[in-house]
Order: sequence, then C-alpha cells, then structure tokens
Amino acid sequence: MAEHLTIQGETKEEKYQTLLPQAQALVQHEDDRIAALANLAAALHSTFDWLWTGFYLVKNQQLVLGPFQGPIACTRIPHGKGVCGSAWAQNRTLVVPDVDAFPGHIACSSSARSEIVVPIRDAGGTVVAVLDVDSSKLDQFDSTDARYLEQICTALQHLF
Ligand code: SME
Repeated sequence: MAEHLTIQGETKEEKYQTLLPQAQALVQHEDDRIAALANLAAALHSTFDWLWTGFYLVKNQQLVLGPFQGPIACTRIPHGKGVCGSAWAQNRTLVVPDVDAFPGHIACSSSARSEIVVPIRDAGGTVVAVLDVDSSKLDQFDSTDARYLEQICTALQHLF
C-alpha cells in the first residue's frame, strides 16, 4: 500500500480524479474496518480544505461516531435526526448548502456552514454507516462531491 498520497490538479474535479484510485487502493486490501476508515478519513481531509471529515457507524439503531479528522464531534445521532440521521433514513446522499436552513441540523461545531452526507451500504443495500463532511464555508458541496464520494463509499462495502 502506498504510504503517501499524490494529489494533482487545481480544480475539485481534478483533485478527485487523482484521489479516487488512491482512496480505493487504500481500502481495497484492508479488511479491518477501523483501519480502513481511519486512513480514508485522513486521505480525504488532507486533500481538501474541509472542517470535519469522518464516519458514523450504525449500531443499535443509532449512528455512533467512528474514525474522523477535525474537531471533536457528537458521539451519537438518532435515526432520522440531523443531516446524518436523515441521509441514513432516506438512504440517499444529502447536500446541504447552508446548515442553518436545514431543519434539525445537529451543530457539532459552531463553525460548520455547509455539509454533505453519503450513505455507506452493505451488499444487500442496507445503510450501515455514513460519511459526513463539514465545511466552514457556505455552499461548498455539489454534485461533483456527491459523485466521487459515492464512488469512494462503494469501495467500503467489503468492510461491513
Ligand atoms: N451536522 C451533523 C452532525 C455530525 S457533525 O457535523 C460531525 C448532522 O446534522 O447530522
């Protein structure tokens, strides 16, 4: 496994293009869930200027904090609550341009302004975790982030 990332490009799309194969390789040959998710959180967070990048794992009908990079965060999120619990309940990616305009947004950090949450599914399509990314700037996430982050999350299926 590579011990460092090589990210090239100026635009978000270009950065994702160089990150995607490296992120996939990082998790592909690792079957320990914590090890793989921890390295992936670091890879994503160090590539982009994000406030918080991490995972919540479904445990006993709640989302429980997993590996992440950034400030300390809420440890448990109920089903259907906040952006993370809503993405889990709706089984779809949620892009939130302004967290203050999202009813029920859970503010783990007062610096968070926009957010994207991508469900991680097992082989049967059940949501088993989510990838959550926060930015301290408004409107930082779009369909490009959704497309690449969904591809990265698909590569995590073998961990669940
Ligand atoms: N904002 C999230 C909670 C998790 S933190 O952002 C790390 C939410 O509304 O679900």
